[in-house]
Order: sequence, then structure tokens, then C-alpha cells
Amino acid sequence: MSQQQNVRPDYLDVNEVYKRLAALISQPIHPVRREKMQAYLDYFETKCKRSKELNDEACQIIPGGVQHNLAFNYPFPIAVEKADGAYLWDVDGNRYIDFLQAGGPTMLGSNYAPVREKVFEMLNSCGPVTGLFNEYELKLAHLIQRFVPSVEMFRMLGSGTESVMAAIRAARTFTKKKYVIKVGGAYHGWSDQMVYGLHVPGTGRMEAKGIPRGANRTTQEFYPNSLGALKRHLILNRLRGGTAAVIVEPVGPESGTRPVPFDFNQKVRELCDEFGALLIFDEVVTGFRLGMGGAQEYFGIKPDITVFGKCIAGGYPMAGGVGGRRDVIMSFGAGIGGTGERAYVGGTLSANPLSCVAGYYALLEMERLDAPVLATKAGDRLTKGLNQMIEKLGLPFVAYNQGSIVHLETSGTMLLDFKNPIRLLRELNPRKHMMEEMGAAYMAEGVITLAGSRMYTSMADTDDVIDDALARFESVLSVCG
Ligand SMILES: Cc1ncc(COP(=O)(O)O)c(C=O)c1O
Repeated sequence: MSQQQNVRPDYLDVNEVYKRLAALISQPIHPVRREKMQAYLDYFETKCKRSKELNDEACQIIPGGVQHNLAFNYPFPIAVEKADGAYLWDVDGNRYIDFLQAGGPTMLGSNYAPVREKVFEMLNSCGPVTGLFNEYELKLAHLIQRFVPSVEMFRMLGSGTESVMAAIRAARTFTKKKYVIKVGGAYHGWSDQMVYGLHVPGTGRMEAKGIPRGANRTTQEFYPNSLGALKRHLILNRLRGGTAAVIVEPVGPESGTRPVPFDFNQKVRELCDEFGALLIFDEVVTGFRLGMGGAQEYFGIKPDITVFGKCIAGGYPMAGGVGGRRDVIMSFGAGIGGTGERAYVGGTLSANPLSCVAGYYALLEMERLDAPVLATKAGDRLTKGLNQMIEKLGLPFVAYNQGSIVHLETSGTMLLDFKNPIRLLRELNPRKHMMEEMGAAYMAEGVITLAGSRMYTSMADTDDVIDDALARFESVLSVCG
């Protein structure tokens, strides 16, 4: 069991957050004033010339010019040259406070030297891959088990996407049941079966271009926090092949963009038990962000299967893993010691020595230095400062956090859904564009966010870094209206 305490014994006031979000979405948008927005766009033209050149060239050979979904920034993606702690530098020499943190994995801050040195040692002795067993696979599995005791058996994979696929495969093999139920809007990677109800609840196959109908015919979504809808699916599924698993992001879809009430996961656990479905916690983001015991320690829930990603290789490549009940995870074990009924998984670079050594030392350092607690302290300070600013400026914006995951909703784009399709159609594009502009404005002020609405804090975000960031946010928010 992790020696660390939950990073946050209290929990955000979910009702209050939803009330404020409802008020935000009921109003017209408050974007950056036009003349100031033009000045921000000029920043990119004048101060990011090399990035622009590189992006123009990249667009000729790489679809869209960038390969990471989070790098699709307006007006064009910047090219990063250097990363260190709380900061990034672009190829034009501009420095930014980095609240993207690569999408979450770098809890120790970017390019953390003690882990980098261990990686160099491994590269010098073994190189990045041999295809054979390495002791660090074992060390990392033991460490994860120590932090997350529901992980009786663990299997390392190449990404969160792959690990979700594997978790579902194990659930179906073990239960011999058919359906998988997810929360509408949640992101569980881009596998065929999970590109369903993506980002916006109720959208089903809307994003499933190139995916045959059959691939997600057994995926279902329910409206965020609607336990009644989940129960209805579970009841109906009993008559048509059963529910193999319910998969949740434990803080709510899209890293808590629609946060869950504190007892939500417990109620999902109870429904799973009632209907004989397995509970999969997708801890790709929350794993080690909400504490070394993950969201399951934070909420006091024991899932059957846990999916890991991002943090388990400390920001180094090939970060994915799936762990849980021995009887379920043994579905992967072929031949010797296996169940005989093998759920097939693989991956040439899975569990390579580089990823395993990086993950092992990153997690040890995170524990030793209390990284989740420090990152949460930074998240709390940032959220408090943003809310004070929002109140002072009389804006309808909403800031809230779950530990080191900080949300700053200014346009409310992520709150649109098919419950109100007319509003969705009418408002999606303008609200989305405002969100893009906010991201650009923050960046021009020297702060990088995730899509202009989310921030991941890390251990490197000292009070000084947060206060500096707040001053930069204020420059943007004070010209919204
Ligand atoms: C909750 C969640 N699950 C799964 C994934 C997919 O992980 P990966 O990008 O490693 O495939 C992500 C990625 O952001 C995620 O946030």
C-alpha cells in the first residue's frame, strides 16, 4: 500500500461547479476583444517565424503538420526545442510556462535529470530494446503493485490506447459477455471500439470515420453521471449477451471536464457487482496524479482492471499497462501458467528496458519527493488565483481542479451535448473557435495550456511559477468581454 496520503482529503463542490458551468453556457461568449486578439495573432507572425516555416514545410508531408492531437494549436503549432522543469522553449527562443506537461505524464516536470541519467545508463548498457526479458520489467510491476494494491498481476503495453483494448479483451475473455459501456464524452484512446461517444456525449459513431459499424456495435455510452441510464443498459444487456465491463475515467469524462460526484464510482462499482460486469478504471491520467495510489485510492474503490498510461514511463515512450485481479489478468498468459484461453496482446516495443527503467525511477522519485502532493498544491494555487481573478473581473468563466488537473472553462465548448442539439449545432463552432483563441492568447502571453481550457501542473510548478502564470492569465482575461 502506498505510504502517501490522498493528495486531497476534501473534494470539489460538484453541484457548485455545475451551477457555474450552466450559467457560463447560458450566456453569449466573452472572447478576447478583437484588437487585442489581433495583437496576439501578430505575436505568432512576428515572434514565431521559424515555427511557422517548419509547420508550413511539415504540412507538405505530415497530414495537418503535427502528429500529436494536443499540438494542433491555433493559429499554427509552435515547434519546441528545449524542455526543462516548468518551462518549454520554442525554436525562435521564446520561453513558456508549460501546463500541457505533454498531456499529463511529466509529474516531475519536463526532462527531469535524475531519471534521464538512469535512462542513459540503460542505453549505454543494453540499448532501448532486446525483445527479451529485463529485470526492470519486474521492478516496475512490483512498484506499481505496491502503490496500487488492486493490481495483483500487471502487463506492460505500448500506450493507453493499447491498454484499454487489452483491458476490454481480458474482460470479455473472462466474463464471456459482450457489451462494454463507457461514459459519453470520455476518452479512452482511439481504438475502433472506443471511438464512440467521443468528446461530446451522445455522439455515438459521429467520429468513427473509417471504422466499420460492427467494430463498435457492442460499445454503449451513457450520459455523464447518469446512473439510471447505466442501469438501463445493464438491464437490457442481460437479455442480449451481457455486459463484460463498464469503463470510466474516475474523475469524469475528458479528465473531469464533467466532474463526477464523489460517490459516483462507488455506485458504478455496486452496479457492476449487481450485474456481473467488470469495472475498468482508466487511470491513464489519474494514475499517480491523484496520488501514488491513483484515483482508486482517492475514491476508495477497488476496480477489477486498471488501465495505466502516461505516467508509468515517466514521460518516456511506450507508456501503457493493464493490471488488476489475478484471475482476470491471467487471461493474457498463454501456455505455461496461463488459463489456456488466451486473450492475445503483443507489441515489439512493449515493456522495453528504456520505458521500464524510466518508469521505475520516475515513480520512485515521485514517491520520494511527494510529487502528486506538490503538483496538487500548484493546482490548488492556480485554481484559487484564477477564480479570484474571474470574480474580480466579473466574468462568467469557471475554474476548478481535481488535484493537479485544472480546468479553466471560458467558452463552455465541452459542455455542449446532444441533450440540446439545436444549441449544439448553433454554438459548437463559435465556442470552439473562442477556445482556440484563448489557447493562442495564453501562449502569446507565455503560457501553454491543453486546448485553451485545461492545465496539468507538476512538481516543478513552485509558488513563483504559479504566480507568474496567474499574472499572464490576467493579461488575457482582463481583455475578454
Ligand atoms: C483517460 C485516457 N485514456 C486513454 C488515453 C490514451 O492514451 P494514449 O494516448 O497513450 O494512447 C488517454 C490519452 O490522453 C486518456 O486521457
